[in-house]
Amino acid sequence: MIALASDHGGLLLKEAVKELLRERGIPFEDCGTENGDSVDYPDYGEKVARKVAAGAVEKGILFCGTGIGMSIVANKFPHVRAALVTDPFMARMAKEHNNANILVLGGRVLDEHQAREMVATWLDATYEGGRHQGRLDKIAALEKEIYKTGTRD
Ligand code: RB5
Repeated sequence: MIALASDHGGLLLKEAVKELLRERGIPFEDCGTENGDSVDYPDYGEKVARKVAAGAVEKGILFCGTGIGMSIVANKFPHVRAALVTDPFMARMAKEHNNANILVLGGRVLDEHQAREMVATWLDATYEGGRHQGRLDKIAALEKEIYKTGTRD
């Protein structure tokens, strides 16, 4: 299950990515926003990041105008590794090296074709583990120290 959310700046990309997920038969939950009215991205980023942090969903995809605000919000949450990507290489690295569990895209940066390509690349890529796991373990150790959370992943 993938949870998605956007503000007004990312709404059109969210709709394009939902279409991709439908085509691929991937179940998703749309956590809003539903229309183009101006909203605050933290209110929507929080919805997806909480689910990923709790392990209620495996992955999330967030959209705002630049992707910057959503990535800042999402990365406040323990166990979240949110990656703002602007090209397919970054989308692939986000999975292969960082095992990103939230992908973040900017609706004023990318067109719908680019967004679909990046989501497909991220979904199809495989986390390499190995030397990268030690680095993710260090991030988890920081979370544990700062937030007093348990470890996961
Ligand atoms: C909204 O105007 C815009 O600030 C938001 O979509 C996002 O780009 C913030 O990072």
